[in-house]
Amino acid sequence: MLFAIIMAGGSGTRFWPKSRRNRPKQLLNLHGDSTMLQQTVARIAPLVPAERILIITGADQAEATRAQLPQLPASNVIAEPCPRDTAPCVGLAAEIVAARDPRGSMIVMPADHVIGPEAVFLKTVKAAVAVIDAAPSSLVTFGVKPTRPETGYGYIQRGELIETRDGVAVHRVVQFREKPDRDTAEQFLASGSFAWNAGIFLWRAATILQEIRRHKPLLGAALDRVGAAWGTEAGPDVLAAEFPEMERTPIDKAVMEKAADVKVLEVVYDWNDVGDWRSLRPLLPADADGNALQGDVIARDTKNSIIISDDGGLIATIGLDDVVIVQSGGATLVARRDQLDKLKAVVESLNERG
Ligand code: GDD
Ligand code: MG
Repeated sequence: MLFAIIMAGGSGTRFWPKSRRNRPKQLLNLHGDSTMLQQTVARIAPLVPAERILIITGADQAEATRAQLPQLPASNVIAEPCPRDTAPCVGLAAEIVAARDPRGSMIVMPADHVIGPEAVFLKTVKAAVAVIDAAPSSLVTFGVKPTRPETGYGYIQRGELIETRDGVAVHRVVQFREKPDRDTAEQFLASGSFAWNAGIFLWRAATILQEIRRHKPLLGAALDRVGAAWGTEAGPDVLAAEFPEMERTPIDKAVMEKAADVKVLEVVYDWNDVGDWRSLRPLLPADADGNALQGDVIARDTKNSIIISDDGGLIATIGLDDVVIVQSGGATLVARRDQLDKLKAVVESLNERG
């Protein structure tokens, strides 16, 4: 049986002031008419029934998450006691899946990506399922054609072509490298044999648990203790005791960089990792001056800017170029577009201020 695991524990600092600690980006309606989390669930729903869609999120976001997904059983929204990055998150989900179906497979998806068209996405997922059915000990990744030496992604080096399934090319993976430095990313890009990791994985729950035990034995043992108690009266207490002690590490580094049997599917659907305000620009309607405007905004002699009024108040700009202005929840961000990398640090200093 195929389960869908949606990782939804991000802190969302890069969409301040619209995102706040208890309102991260996947719970926001940044574009379109539903939130990114709701769009993610809708995307996989044609292949996986609601009973088998699990959301792994933080304790402080669980209630808001359940409210957005009334079609899911409330117990399918699983609250981590604290964020431990994606390896413990994936491992916890795998324990739950394996308990329900020892031969179960799981597609792991981030809650905050924009993907389309849906039919092409589903075709790729079906190809991944077929790959795992034929080779249950493989780990399947989804590779996007890279367009710049981005250092915020994982890189996957393609090896030999194994097969083409329903138009989707399946390659063996030579190496997986999470977030390389700039020089390495440039080399990878120039070589032409690397793809970006789209952040989606498909594997048997038993396989990924085996891999976690092999490469991170302490984490694997802790996850197994949580798995053994899951569904019993002691379950919540064991989770609360074990989870905060688990190593904080992403699945990409904990397993993917080390695993031997990794395959990559060529992604041909559109993919946007909505990383910060800048990445929304192509998703919002643009005016003739290249501005993305949302809400009550008058932009006079203003170019290539993102201006969002979320509070209903009017924003008027004159003679600006390459800026980001967002007014939301009683706070206003005004930044140069090329300086937006500093937003995370600013928001963290706000948290310290209390
Ligand atoms: N439940 C839970 N708990 N979810 C988490 C946690 C956690 O502790 N940490 C992160 N997540 C969720 C995020 O909300 C997001 O949906 C997903 O897991 C991926 O985490 P990110 O923190 O956004 O990872 P990244 O973007 O830096 O890198 C990953 O995605 C890239 C593509 O967007 C990696 O897989 C890269 O290799 C990949 O290229
Ligand atoms: Mg991300």
